[in-house]
Amino acid sequence: MSRGVQRPTRGDEMEVRVDDLAFGGRGVSRADGFVVFTADTAPGDRARVRMQRVRRRFGEADLIEVLEPGPGRIAPPCAFVPDCGGCRLQHVDYAEALDAKRRQVAEHLVRIGGLEGVEVRDADPALEHFGYRNKMEYSAAPAPDGSLRLGFHRRGRWDEVVDINPCLLASAVGNVAREAVRAWAAAEGVEPYDQRAQQGFLRHVVVREGVLTGQVLVTIVTAHGPDEVVDALAARLPAAVPGLVGIVHAVNDGPSEVTAGLPSRTVWGRDWIEETVEVEQGRPVTLRLSAASFFQTNSRMTGHLYRRAAEAAGLTGGEVLYDLFAGVGSIGVALGSLAREVVAIELVPEAADDARGNAERNGISNHTALAGDVRVVLREHRGRLPVPDVAIVDPPRAGLSGGACRRILELAPKTLVYVSCQPATFADNARRFVDGGYRLEWVRPVDMFPQTPHIEAVARFTRV
Ligand SMILES: C[S@@+](CC[C@H](N)C(=O)[O-])C[C@H]1O[C@@H](n2cnc3c(N)ncnc32)[C@H](O)[C@@H]1O
Repeated sequence: MSRGVQRPTRGDEMEVRVDDLAFGGRGVSRADGFVVFTADTAPGDRARVRMQRVRRRFGEADLIEVLEPGPGRIAPPCAFVPDCGGCRLQHVDYAEALDAKRRQVAEHLVRIGGLEGVEVRDADPALEHFGYRNKMEYSAAPAPDGSLRLGFHRRGRWDEVVDINPCLLASAVGNVAREAVRAWAAAEGVEPYDQRAQQGFLRHVVVREGVLTGQVLVTIVTAHGPDEVVDALAARLPAAVPGLVGIVHAVNDGPSEVTAGLPSRTVWGRDWIEETVEVEQGRPVTLRLSAASFFQTNSRMTGHLYRRAAEAAGLTGGEVLYDLFAGVGSIGVALGSLAREVVAIELVPEAADDARGNAERNGISNHTALAGDVRVVLREHRGRLPVPDVAIVDPPRAGLSGGACRRILELAPKTLVYVSCQPATFADNARRFVDGGYRLEWVRPVDMFPQTPHIEAVARFTRV
């Protein structure tokens, strides 16, 4: 902060003009070098805010009042904004949010990676701004009168849930499925789980959809309790939910709010769905996704994302392609016909099994799927796997560990494609690859998550 300027203190009210959006979706305003982040503000807003946390160079404030809405502000269409912690950008004009995502990728590369002048291309807009999610995880919690609330956590609260109906990010069928489960809970007198008291039964409802196949899978996560209550879903859900192919019951007896990796049984139907992805026109691939496997949450954009990955990979048919952090093998299977050989590595054994089966069912015969940690598998198979010409990495938000980066640098593929869902860890990893002898040619954000601050991007690195 420049000399002579008073740094605000906690509780101070001040007037700000928002000039940008930061990663995470908060509006950014600046006063004499002091930066203020305020949730629920939009670019161009003049707003009165109250300081909540003050650091040396920046502070975090709560919005008191929008004094003059900026051109970047729109009326959020969802009735649960801002209570629901699910979406944080519904009040921001889509074009504005999209460009902010591009700027954030570029800023992270400079600030975290020290990489100036990288070509960060215009973000590809999403095909749908609402109703695009193929997987929704609803939390259950008691209302003050003990009745069921089924929705998402109240913003900033771990112990309180906002009852949601409808959710505008879910599809029409997804909303129907959640409400059918709510009707079952009411009919069976199912008690919601109270996270604070660690008592009750129904904890989460996960609705997963193959948007392009019309298949729906519902997983009910409960505390330990009577199976018969959950079995009653089999008599109710199939008639109520179009396309339902399975009901799974998972039991979570622990304090943490997880929905995956739990002991589970299939109550009705099966525990997997299929989804279709089309990268090469006229050559769609159908992928089996088991309940434990990761898949991109925006089905209609997945083909587009993979087309950008294919563009970055520049496959000509003769290459050995590594699909690292492969999930159900979707990238390697969708691009398999463009490569000579594919090696997929994925941590979750069920997903690696899916990858193997998906390659087989789609006639990708030049495909090997290995289960395990990328870093460990690459070390253990050193010298025994074909040397990659192209490696595509698609790690979770935590990005690549130092060890994984080193293993990939040892492999030295001519082309490295990074599919990122977190610009900060991407920027850190990008620096490592640049230091290791790669040139970052371009980055292309692809909006997989409208209304939320999440950012997906595809980057092309080539070995210098
Ligand atoms: C962002 S997802 C990408 C999946 C897939 N490429 C897709 O497009 O659907 C990341 C995947 O990496 C897997 N994973 C996480 N840590 C891993 C590790 N250390 N080694 C291998 N796979 C890992 C996760 O299980 C998940 O399937």
